[in-house]
Amino acid sequence: MDSNSNNFGDQFQNKSKYVRDDLPKHFLNWDTKPKTYKNYVNPIKIIHLSTPEFDEDLPFITNRQSLRTFSQEALDLEKISLLLFGISGITRSYPQFALRTVPSAGGLFPIETYSVINNVDGIDPGIYHHNIKDHVLECLKLGDYRIEAMKACLDQKMVYNSAITFVWTAIIERAKWKYLQRCYRYIYMDAGHVGQNFYLVAEALGLGACTIGAIYDNELNNLLEIDGVEETAIYVGVIGNKISII
Ligand SMILES: Cc1cc2nc3c(=O)[nH]c(=O)nc-3n(C[C@H](O)[C@H](O)[C@H](O)COP(=O)(O)O)c2cc1C
Repeated sequence: MDSNSNNFGDQFQNKSKYVRDDLPKHFLNWDTKPKTYKNYVNPIKIIHLSTPEFDEDLPFITNRQSLRTFSQEALDLEKISLLLFGISGITRSYPQFALRTVPSAGGLFPIETYSVINNVDGIDPGIYHHNIKDHVLECLKLGDYRIEAMKACLDQKMVYNSAITFVWTAIIERAKWKYLQRCYRYIYMDAGHVGQNFYLVAEALGLGACTIGAIYDNELNNLLEIDGVEETAIYVGVIGNKISII
């Protein structure tokens, strides 16, 4: 961390971590919930818009939703390739840099993707890192990490039952090099783009998916063996086959 007092971004990142048994003491007062929608009472005029109808081959835009229960059928190997490519695949290469399926502030791409593989045909359960440049999975640890991953996500059961739990981390310096303390804003925006592509590709492939922001940050960092400062867990996405309703 910066030694001077202008490390407000680092402080935000560190102080907003969830720590087991030390969660913020806070209850929801529904009487004070802010209004969800804003409208102007006296606009100059109102333009009525046509009924939104997407092209038939874009149903994943309107059908996307968070699913938190999955069938225990294994996920196809090809689908993990499509998911990872949709999350951060390289689509345009130039001599000095390359651009991807997702946008990123300054084209700096601080987000990394780890996969806790639980139930994928042809891949042993374990923790893998997506090597984006070569589009391969690098195996870091073999074994069943469903319980540890679930615990690190505030004990949410969907993590235990997923075919894959993706963990998105940020390598802070990649963005801080240009944006200094403001980098944290862009890191979370970048992660949001990754998350949305994850949802849309999942829906396009007919899979169920949910993203997770409620994490015990350092439990997840420990699972991935990253230090939580230079590289830290930011966001999680669980995925699996949908439960078919017959
Ligand atoms: C940043 C973010 C964090 C989220 N974290 C969680 C979470 O920890 N647990 C959960 O069950 N859902 C989580 N969700 C899913 C939201 O609850 C869900 O998107 C919202 O209720 C709207 O429902 P929909 O996605 O089905 O449209 C998260 C979504 C976002 C965008």
